[in-house]
Amino acid sequence: EKAGYKHFMLKEIYEQPQAILNTLRGRVLPEEGEVIFEESGITQDLIKKTKMVNLVACGTSWHAGLVAKYWIEKWVRIPVQVDLASEFRYRDLLVDDSWLTIPISQSGETADTLAGLRIAKDHGSTVISICNVVGSTITRESDGTIYTHAGPEIGVASTKAFTSQLAALYLLGLFMAKARGTLDQKAIKEKIDVMLEVPGLIEEELKAWHNRAKDLSCEFSQYPNFLYLGRGLHFPVALEGALKLKEISYIHAEGYAAGEMKHGPIALIDKNMPVVCLAPQDHVYEKLLSNIEEVRSRRGIVISLGEKGDEKLKKLSKELIEVPKVDDRDVNPFLYTIPLQLLAYEIAVQRGCDVDQPRNLAKSVTVE
Ligand code: F6R
Repeated sequence: EKAGYKHFMLKEIYEQPQAILNTLRGRVLPEEGEVIFEESGITQDLIKKTKMVNLVACGTSWHAGLVAKYWIEKWVRIPVQVDLASEFRYRDLLVDDSWLTIPISQSGETADTLAGLRIAKDHGSTVISICNVVGSTITRESDGTIYTHAGPEIGVASTKAFTSQLAALYLLGLFMAKARGTLDQKAIKEKIDVMLEVPGLIEEELKAWHNRAKDLSCEFSQYPNFLYLGRGLHFPVALEGALKLKEISYIHAEGYAAGEMKHGPIALIDKNMPVVCLAPQDHVYEKLLSNIEEVRSRRGIVISLGEKGDEKLKKLSKELIEVPKVDDRDVNPFLYTIPLQLLAYEIAVQRGCDVDQPRNLAKSVTVE
């Protein structure tokens, strides 16, 4: 049932091109530059009247929401707030019927997310969930659901469910941009085209990323702490990379917005601190390079993820994991997440951890 893979997690990492493709399938008309969500409850009218997009989730699903905030605010020009469900549910909320609430959940059974959904509904918000499990409680209580089609995820650490959530949210962003007229047809078409290239790109790179992760795991499996840094879209990816590492390898890892480093975590950096830096050549590349310099000057160990052929970054880094350069870097979260999943996986294996069943964790958190 693991199809020759040593763990479900590894199998599911390798299934990501297919999972993403399945989530896109039937939902895009590349020629027309259009996204369609049949039977999801999402309509153009709903999007036109929405004044606030309210994403509510836990853990890895929350990270997907954080990525979506950057996409939706950029493409649709609607404010997006992203809440941890456990915080959302106990706050004095401002939610009303002009809000569109989107709970994001792989299992559809997470107690806090479900409670957040119910509260949002009580405030009059329309609720459209993003979920991987057909007929789960969250889908039954939502006004509509956009299903991710990742297939069953068995490994406790979420991998293909995350990138499938990203795919669904990416399409949702484009659907909204169309409904609000904030991106023209040509722009939407281009964004669909680049998204459709992603599964193939991942397929091509998986083996190389995996080999890099194996090499690095020998060198880095014994460090007690890791820091992950990114900016913009890559900030949530840094959070996700750190979460993967801590949950399956039990190494303490923190994800940080790179610009926040000097406000505290920089105090931790010394020669025993590997710092994973997400450094594509986007609009904050130079800023990220300055952060890398700060790490280097404190003798931190720089492990970078950056674009193929980036010699400058290579020189500044102890190790570089290469990621393909794409025409539109809005799809980068798909590409930068996967090497981090593999790195966490290989480090955990190297440490002899039970990767599919990490201690103290459950696949579906149905209690508070
Ligand atoms: C991390 C992980 C958890 C889940 C979280 C939410 O790898 O799996 O953080 O993402 O428990 O679960 P769902 O998405 O089922 O609501």
